Amino acid sequence: MKIAVIGQGYVGLTISTFAARHHQVVGFDLNSVIVSQLNKGVSHIEGVASADIKQAIFGGNYKATTDGYEIAGSEIVVIAVPTPLDEGRKPDLTFIDSACKVIAENLVGPALIINESTSYPGTLRDYIKPTIEKYSKQKFQHQYAISPERVDPGREDFNQKNTPRLYAGLTSEATARTREFYSSFCDNLVEVSSPEVAEAAKLFENTFRQVNIALVNELAQISHALGIDVRETLDAAGTKPYGFMKFAPSAGVGGHCIPVDPSYLADVAEKAGIEATFIRRANEVNLDMPKYIAGRVEKDNGGSLKGKKVLIVGVAYKPNVADTRETPAELLIDALMDLGAVVTWNDPVVGAWHGSVSSQLSGAEIAVVVTKHDVVSAEDILKSAPYVFDTTGKVKGAVQL
Ligand SMILES: NC(=O)c1ccc[n+]([C@@H]2O[C@H](COP(=O)([O-])OP(=O)(O)OC[C@H]3O[C@@H](n4cnc5c(N)ncnc54)[C@H](O)[C@@H]3O)[C@@H](O)[C@H]2O)c1
Repeated sequence: MKIAVIGQGYVGLTISTFAARHHQVVGFDLNSVIVSQLNKGVSHIEGVASADIKQAIFGGNYKATTDGYEIAGSEIVVIAVPTPLDEGRKPDLTFIDSACKVIAENLVGPALIINESTSYPGTLRDYIKPTIEKYSKQKFQHQYAISPERVDPGREDFNQKNTPRLYAGLTSEATARTREFYSSFCDNLVEVSSPEVAEAAKLFENTFRQVNIALVNELAQISHALGIDVRETLDAAGTKPYGFMKFAPSAGVGGHCIPVDPSYLADVAEKAGIEATFIRRANEVNLDMPKYIAGRVEKDNGGSLKGKKVLIVGVAYKPNVADTRETPAELLIDALMDLGAVVTWNDPVVGAWHGSVSSQLSGAEIAVVVTKHDVVSAEDILKSAPYVFDTTGKVKGAVQL
């Protein structure tokens, strides 16, 4: 089959390389730098090997493009574009809208359109389908389905093949064709009764994480006030063989999903007349963690950070990836600078960020560990400053969150 994948980022490129093992894939993206790199067989995504892209190109099964007309003739179109929040932290479907436009303007026959981007329940039925119809000059009877992506970048034990995949179509034909498509490269398909169930499940998975991380971050603050070791408490609670799942305290949540998806759920809830107070509060607790940490560091250092050299260790939002989207390091840097600190950062995996490059892991008066990559040793972090505050629990001997 000819498959078009709209968006060649974490989700789109991952699905493209798996699909290219069995189908002809056109990867459409608006970013010409990414497209030209991909056509040279160079991956920009952890977890997608350049060798896999080269193999797909060599076998004639993959091509990246910025030209919308190249998606003409596709039997299946997968949407994998960003779904961020706008400035008011409301769902921003601008990218979905532009993806719908390119699909509508370039398909030359009926296709199965599958959305993999994360959004609120009703997006497929009430937004994507009508938007494609609005932009289409020719009225084809497209089929529509959802299959939310669950990729965890950098993770090796779960991938496209063995991660259970939810799916549902707007019609039984769409559902059956979606099953047929994914079964060519996924072992475990889970059909649900409507696209809205799949959309809601995806949002709830990440809301569950957001809420539990907030809970454990609140416990970290309570534990510190009471003089109790939070990680030992969590290890102790974790010995219960049922009814408990362990989450770890941290500087907050980052990435494209956990800080964003719960707000999609809260927004749709509020439109339906339900105040999502719990979800909103979890978001606030996590967003406030950097301020809490800056306050602790200030207190431990004579009550003032004015003019002090503070090094942030690890600015990626999680270990062993270069992704800095929504990283709590950013809010922490702001909070420390508000207290008068002179802040630099070290992250050899990220390398360059916000117009500056990774500093030496040395020479600071204070170091605060946000993310500990495997390539950075705990010993080197401990030597980087006389005072080291660790939010990760991985640098023994440092002051712990
Ligand atoms: N990254 C993850 O781990 C993950 C996991 C599950 C779900 N998701 C969801 O998948 C979706 C995509 O996320 P991502 O992480 O792949 O984003 P990304 O930023 O890595 O990639 C998106 C790509 O889409 C391109 N793009 C934007 N608008 C476009 C358009 N109109 N046409 C073509 N290309 C366009 C961008 O240039 C970019 O390369 C989001 O809804 C996200 O919430 C992400």
